Amino acid sequence: MDEYYWDTRIEYLRNSRDLFYNDDYLEFLVKMVWKIEAPVHIVDFGCGYGYLGLKLLPLLPQGSTYTGLDLGNKLLAEARQLFARLPYEASFIQGDIQQLQLDRKYDLAVCHAFLLHVSNPLDILQKMIDCVTDGGKVAAFEPHWIGNAANFYLHGFEQSQHVQLGLLQKLYELDAARSGKDGNIGLKLPLYMSQLGLTEIQCRVSDKVNVLYPRMEQEEKHKLYDDLRKSGYADAPGDREIFIDQLIARGATPEEAGVQYDNELLLSQQFNSESLLTYAANMKITFGKVERS
Ligand SMILES: C[S@@+](CC[C@H](N)C(=O)[O-])C[C@H]1O[C@@H](n2cnc3c(N)ncnc32)[C@H](O)[C@@H]1O
Repeated sequence: MDEYYWDTRIEYLRNSRDLFYNDDYLEFLVKMVWKIEAPVHIVDFGCGYGYLGLKLLPLLPQGSTYTGLDLGNKLLAEARQLFARLPYEASFIQGDIQQLQLDRKYDLAVCHAFLLHVSNPLDILQKMIDCVTDGGKVAAFEPHWIGNAANFYLHGFEQSQHVQLGLLQKLYELDAARSGKDGNIGLKLPLYMSQLGLTEIQCRVSDKVNVLYPRMEQEEKHKLYDDLRKSGYADAPGDREIFIDQLIARGATPEEAGVQYDNELLLSQQFNSESLLTYAANMKITFGKVERS
């Protein structure tokens, strides 16, 4: 039987997460924006290896607890191992979130890069809301892919030599219309939360702009270069015919697909650890309050 896809992507998840937020920004969010001063019970939808728990628990009042939900057995085994070494109360539930029944007992339901992967995000957002007690919060850290794609600058090249935003915009929209899975969900979540009755809705943008430059400290440079590469930036596009056929199947014209292939090939050949690059992931962090009365 094939291995569950996300269980094969632990390395990718580990490498890409450091590109999103500075730790001081997450501290600002928890302490200055959310103003969490008493222990909270958190539930993390699609927790993976527990990334959000690892980031948030050290910032939350002592006595806060974390429950991670995910389908991936290997991801959860990794999470259990990581949390076993830490002084936090954490538990993990393996299962399909579409089927899981949850008690209404959490103060904060969170997710990170999860809602974009479900075909019915409003139903799952409702499920997040339903498991939060009155006065609690829901917070979704989700991408806005086209915003992300626009936020690479590689010195020496015009952006259009590497990425055709018009084509990507069209493909993301067609993919979402076909599957319901929406890589641009980040910027829509404030409206979805409003439709589902949340109050005090706010949306923030991830703060981190990664800067790669030749004279930066060597270890830092290699880590950033490695994180970018392992996140898939500047991947070689592989076989031309297969690549083009796949893009045409998603809605590109043959000409658009050819240009995209040439751009990705050029990028894969030009980008190296001595490049000057800036990149901002542009994750959207949307949160609101659950008020039933
Ligand atoms: C991109 S990963 C994000 C993981 C983690 N939140 C992070 O940011 O590192 C998406 C996660 O959602 C989980 N997932 C997707 N659909 C799911 C479902 N129906 N039930 C449970 N987990 C699901 C996957 O197993 C995967 O771990």
